[in-house]
Amino acid sequence: MRAARWILAGCAVALSLHALLHRRVEAPAQEVVVAKPTRPPDDGCPTTVRVALCFYGLNRALRHTHESIRRHLVAPLRAACARVDVFYHTWSLETLEDTGKAGGEREAVRIGGAAEMRALLGDLVAKSAVTDQAAFDAASNASYYKTLDRRYGGPNFVNLMRQLESLRRVTALWRSMGAHAETHYAAVIYARPDLLFLDDVNATQALTLRENDFLTPYWHQWSGLNDRVAIGRPRAAAAFGNRIELAAGYALETFLRSESFLKWAVCDHHGFDLAFLEARAQRVRASGDVADNDACLKYCSLSLRRTCRADCRKLAPPGEAPPLAAWAKKQQARDREKRRDKRPPKHAHHNRLP
Ligand SMILES: *[C@@H]1O[C@H](CO)[C@@H](O)[C@H](O)[C@H]1NC(C)=O
Ligand SMILES: *[C@@H]1O[C@H](CO)[C@@H](O)[C@H](O)[C@H]1NC(C)=O
Repeated sequence: MRAARWILAGCAVALSLHALLHRRVEAPAQEVVVAKPTRPPDDGCPTTVRVALCFYGLNRALRHTHESIRRHLVAPLRAACARVDVFYHTWSLETLEDTGKAGGEREAVRIGGAAEMRALLGDLVAKSAVTDQAAFDAASNASYYKTLDRRYGGPNFVNLMRQLESLRRVTALWRSMGAHAETHYAAVIYARPDLLFLDDVNATQALTLRENDFLTPYWHQWSGLNDRVAIGRPRAAAAFGNRIELAAGYALETFLRSESFLKWAVCDHHGFDLAFLEARAQRVRASGDVADNDACLKYCSLSLRRTCRADCRKLAPPGEAPPLAAWAKKQQARDREKRRDKRPPKHAHHNRLP
């Protein structure tokens, strides 16, 4: 597949890091054949396959996104005769510092939190868990964070660790579905609950994955791979979901940055075969506004992937997209500041894709 080869060329960049860590998990030689989806007896499907649909992280905006999730994820899978089991892990939190109106100041806003997840997804949910965020933060080892955080400096990094931890916890939920959890699901889909899906997931693609395949968006890969949505068979999905376990070793070598860390874990550490997930999704703020960076995704398509893998605002008509230049400048200044303070990483940050 052309697209897969293109992205794999990008994956080859960071092999030295992998070699240093020596922790590669070998792929099983055996290729698992996925049962062809068929209709369940009551609506014409003689058998069903199962899909685990997993949400993780804070719930900011499910009231604005749940219809798109049902329409673009759940419905196409059901139409392909899959039974969809929803799992979620979220933090118990009722207010959040978030951007209000597009481009506005950060302000404390009320979010729907766990109660909203229960109310809006309840009929689909197989298992869920809610953890008190303050308790998790208090129990987390501050010096452990300090060792890991060599770039972000503070709140963004803590948010990244909370997200990775929530992901780990939802992974434990689907894996706990009986002794055969690993063979139970034809596919495991991960998504943040604040994603407004613009396209149907390709159910055929999702239900015919091979053991070593990993589906990742062609859009918003930024410095690595997009960490907001992913689809794999259980073994690949578990590796994606548990990658927080690799964070400490990775951070010894380079900045732990969300997208490049994911790319390293998936490409170099696990050696999965990547293919593109074509469905696009925009992050929605608690206010209901689409995130500034994401509005332009509506102009994206696979053929525009070179532009869409980072700043798609170039595709927006003049005046529609706020400038990215100011943000990038601030980010660079912050990086320089950090480098002055701390020992430079032994290996260059691998943020190049062809
Ligand atoms: C906290 O993290 C540091 C650095 O990884 C480690 O040396 C220390 O043992 C940890 N302490 C606890 C109580 O886990
Ligand atoms: C869905 O995926 C299948 C298998 O990868 C592919 O053959 C098909 O063209 C895709 N459909 C669409 C609409 O992209």
